Parts: sequence; structure tokens; C-alpha cells
Amino acid sequence: MQTIYIGDIFSFLESLPDSCIDLAIIDPPYNLKVASWDSFRNEKEFLDFSFAWIDSMLPKLKNSASFYIFNTPRNCALFLNHLQGKAYLQNWITWYKKDGFSANKRRFNIAQESILFYTMDSKQYYFDSEIIRIPYDSTERIAHAYKKGILKNGKRWYPNINGKLCPDVWEIPSERHKRKLNGKIIKLNHPTPKPRVMIERMIQASSKEGDLVLDLFAGTGMTSLCARDLERKFIGCEKNKEYVDSSLKIFTL
Ligand SMILES: C[S@@+](CC[C@H](N)C(=O)[O-])C[C@H]1O[C@@H](n2cnc3c(N)ncnc32)[C@H](O)[C@@H]1O
Repeated sequence: MQTIYIGDIFSFLESLPDSCIDLAIIDPPYNLKVASWDSFRNEKEFLDFSFAWIDSMLPKLKNSASFYIFNTPRNCALFLNHLQGKAYLQNWITWYKKDGFSANKRRFNIAQESILFYTMDSKQYYFDSEIIRIPYDSTERIAHAYKKGILKNGKRWYPNINGKLCPDVWEIPSERHKRKLNGKIIKLNHPTPKPRVMIERMIQASSKEGDLVLDLFAGTGMTSLCARDLERKFIGCEKNKEYVDSSLKIFTL
């Protein structure tokens, strides 16, 4: 399984055997009208669609599987409510995008997206907290601690050479704003590609080499590309063939 299927996710999911996926990374429509595929007549239509794909996807995951869902904080709250009793919420991750917000002077400017991190079982799931350590922030204090340690609860604590445990707030610039030329945004072939570093973090934390990663709503296929580069298997679905990275093998449903 190393293919992106071109077609609708519902017929794609129907064709998948049950309990075959180790990790799913799902970046679905947000109903923010950034493209025709992101435009719904009203919230009810959007939620009916969202709950339908969630319910079609869950049986395809192994009992030991994890999944991540991107969306706005409000939509994530509604998804969380729908997922009550169906899977276990491990983290509500806040993605602080750092750049490129549309200006709003009537309320606080929106600078975040949310990511729901779920597992199918409350305890039996894979998570590698070591591989996703990130650099410490307070360099002076940490530099001191590297040399002499810091006294904590009667014990001397030394920083981990690989950095701190990854928190649930991720400061990662959006892909659009990372790729600027002379300060101007370069138009990409997809309106909302996700940053490679973020997808790699999810794959490394929640899967092992050889595991099968599901890339639903694949877009450019960023999740599949990262899975391939990290020696995982992948399977994806996207309805617009022209978005998919040309290095990925595709099959039209
Ligand atoms: C938010 S984007 C995903 C972007 C992707 N994470 C990336 O990094 O490139 C959502 C994608 O879902 C696709 N899509 C929307 N509805 C779909 C459906 N019913 N079946 C298959 N793909 C769909 C859209 O064409 C769009 O590319």
C-alpha cells in the first residue's frame, strides 16, 4: 500500500479493509470557504459531512491506532463532542501559526488552529516522546543547568541533551508564509498545505517504521511524502488529482 487514490473519500474508505491503519492524519475541510471543496451551504451540512467521514474512518483503524484531526478550535470542539465514547482524546494541540493572519479589529486576531490527538485505546498505543524532543527555550538557565544542574525536589536535575519534551502548543510557521520570495508569498498549487515538520512530528511520535499511515483528504500528499521518507507505508485519498505531488503513485478510483 503506497498509493494516493483519486476520488471521493467515502467510496475510498468503503474499499479499505477494517482495522488495517496504524496512524491516520486527517486534514479535512474547515468550512472557511478557501476553495470550492471547503464551502458548505451551512454549518449543519458541514457537520453532517464531517461526522459521516469520522464514522466511516473509525472502523478502519486498528485498536492500537492513533489519529490526528486538524481544524478550527470551534469545529474541533464539535468533533470532540461527536467522538465522545468512540475514542480517547490524548491532547488538544494548539498550532500557533506565527504569521499570516487576516486582520481583525473587532476581536482578538485568530493566530491558531487546533489538532485533536486521539487513540483508539486508552492505554495500548504507541507514542515515542523521545524522538520528538524540541530545543529548550530559556538558554541562560539551561546553559547553567547543563554545567551544574538545578536542584529540584532535593535532586539535581540536568537538561536532556536532545531538548525538552514536546508540549501541546506547537509554534510552527504556516507553509505559505515560510515560502516567501522578497517578502511576497509564492502562490502554491494548493491553498492549505501543512508544514512538513509538523507532519513528521506526528508520524515519528505515533508510528513505527513499516506501519501503515492513512492520508485522508491528502491535498498535496504531504503526509504520504513524510511517511515514505520515514520508512512507513501509506495510503491516501484526494479528489483533485492536480494537487497531488507528482512523485507519488496515484490510482483513479
Ligand atoms: C485541507 S486540504 C488538505 C491539505 C493537505 N494536508 C496538504 O498538506 O496538502 C483538504 C483536501 O481535501 C480534499 N477533499 C475535500 N473533500 C473531499 C472528498 N469528499 N473526497 C476526497 N478529497 C476531498 C480537497 O481537495 C483538499 O485538497
